[in-house]
Amino acid sequence: MVKKKFYVTTPIYYPSGKPHIGSVYTTIAADVLSRWYKLLGYEVFFLTGTDEHTKKVLVEADKNGKNVNNYLDEITKVFKKTFESLDINYDRFIRTSDEDHKKFVQYILNVINKKGDIYKGKYEGYYCNECEDYYTEREASKLICPIHGKNLEFLKEDSYFFKLSKYKDKLLDFYEKNPNFISPEYRRSEIINRVKEGLRDLSISRKDLNWGIEIPFDKEHRVYVWFDALNNYLTGVGVLNDKKLFKKFWPADLHIVGKDILWFHSVIWPAILISAGYKIPKKIYAHGWLTSNDKKIGKSLGNADDIEELIKKYGSDSIRYFLFKVIPFGEDGEYSEKNLIERNNELANKLGNLVSRVSSLVEKKGIEKSKNKLFKKSYLKKISWLIENLEFDKALNEIFAFVDICNEYIQKKKPWDTGDPENSLEFSGLQKIQNEKRLSEARKVLYELADSIKIIAILLWPFIPNTCEKIAKNFSFKIDYSEINKTISVKKIRKEENLFKRV
Ligand code: MSP
Repeated sequence: MVKKKFYVTTPIYYPSGKPHIGSVYTTIAADVLSRWYKLLGYEVFFLTGTDEHTKKVLVEADKNGKNVNNYLDEITKVFKKTFESLDINYDRFIRTSDEDHKKFVQYILNVINKKGDIYKGKYEGYYCNECEDYYTEREASKLICPIHGKNLEFLKEDSYFFKLSKYKDKLLDFYEKNPNFISPEYRRSEIINRVKEGLRDLSISRKDLNWGIEIPFDKEHRVYVWFDALNNYLTGVGVLNDKKLFKKFWPADLHIVGKDILWFHSVIWPAILISAGYKIPKKIYAHGWLTSNDKKIGKSLGNADDIEELIKKYGSDSIRYFLFKVIPFGEDGEYSEKNLIERNNELANKLGNLVSRVSSLVEKKGIEKSKNKLFKKSYLKKISWLIENLEFDKALNEIFAFVDICNEYIQKKKPWDTGDPENSLEFSGLQKIQNEKRLSEARKVLYELADSIKIIAILLWPFIPNTCEKIAKNFSFKIDYSEINKTISVKKIRKEENLFKRV
């Protein structure tokens, strides 16, 4: 049987500083989905990486007194290490300085040029050095960058252009035929209305910069960062060097992006793909921003906590849980260490408590096979739907509603409260029989709870893999979707007490 496939990407990050909680947000979301589809038995490809041909990198290398290539080698290692500490399992970490990527960008430029979709002209406009993008006067009132709040610079320069304007109708037609392409839905009409107003051709090269990929038909020009960057999604999945991989995974199933870069992904990217003759990805999902005191968290904004410190203090799982438990993925949400601590303690109080109570009671009282009446198949359907629609907060709420059901059940059934049938001298024969019955009932309750813990751990694994793998080890089951319907082995449950540190 041919396995189903899932190809998910994150934006590639400007490595002009270390990753922070805002910049790892998308990558963890992609990891959650990648793990979810692996759980379901899909073949998954998960791509992330760094966007290196930006001026900001030159500035940063200079500040640190480093040669730019050394600077980049070091900083990409930091990215990889942080991703590893957050249990992010990507399949490829692409760097735009990778040879196959440079080659492919030149190849696709030639294709599009031959098609007549590239011309030389003059670009002028109001430019933000942070965004590396131009703004119209309408977009940036008072000529101040709407994202960074800094003054925009008026620039005029020779540049090559991609005929984006030509693709207006094709794009509108595509959006109409593919209503789920731009998600969440509430961001869709904004994009479509902007496209309807008409598209400006896209400047794709810079002349004054000695940094970036050369335009193959004019060595004086270098490719401007967005045209370079977007193509990573093709290079990363082997468009040039691995035809089999490419054939299996393209088009991408999902590009996850921040709302600030939705335009590039939902308008410019499909136009480039149509022009060059590639299929268009199935879905672009834009998430909101993590904010601190209502301002976007960012390195250049100086309000980002050190993520490695946070991981050391709270562990990867608490951070992953915190990011998706309360904030709806499409919307902005406030980050604070206080909120993170609250979520960490919620995990300890709800999940940690359940697992430690059940496992230590099993050790004391034993366990007896029975039917798990707590779990309903309908939960599964709902949770799968929510995860696949990136409604992570709602999915986690559903799973934790089930954790609550289990905690209430243990409270109600009191499986610790059994008489002691061994202590026969104190009891009459009748009492002894009654105690045996109570113990047997308690053991059956514990079975239901242990089996429920198994289901909870399998469903939570995409979000908090570390914890769930520990539970799986102590309760002797495999993290695999098919295990949900299998009976848990009652002989091999070990005590598990310290899943989380309460802070
Ligand atoms: N290099 C481009 C993307 C090219 S993709 C072909 C870029 N890089 S970035 O480093 O500035 O941002 C990368 C991603 O991180 C964006 O999706 C952005 O929204 C996200 N975030 C950066 N700070 C963020 C928050 N404070 N909150 C949530 N996401 C944030 O743009």
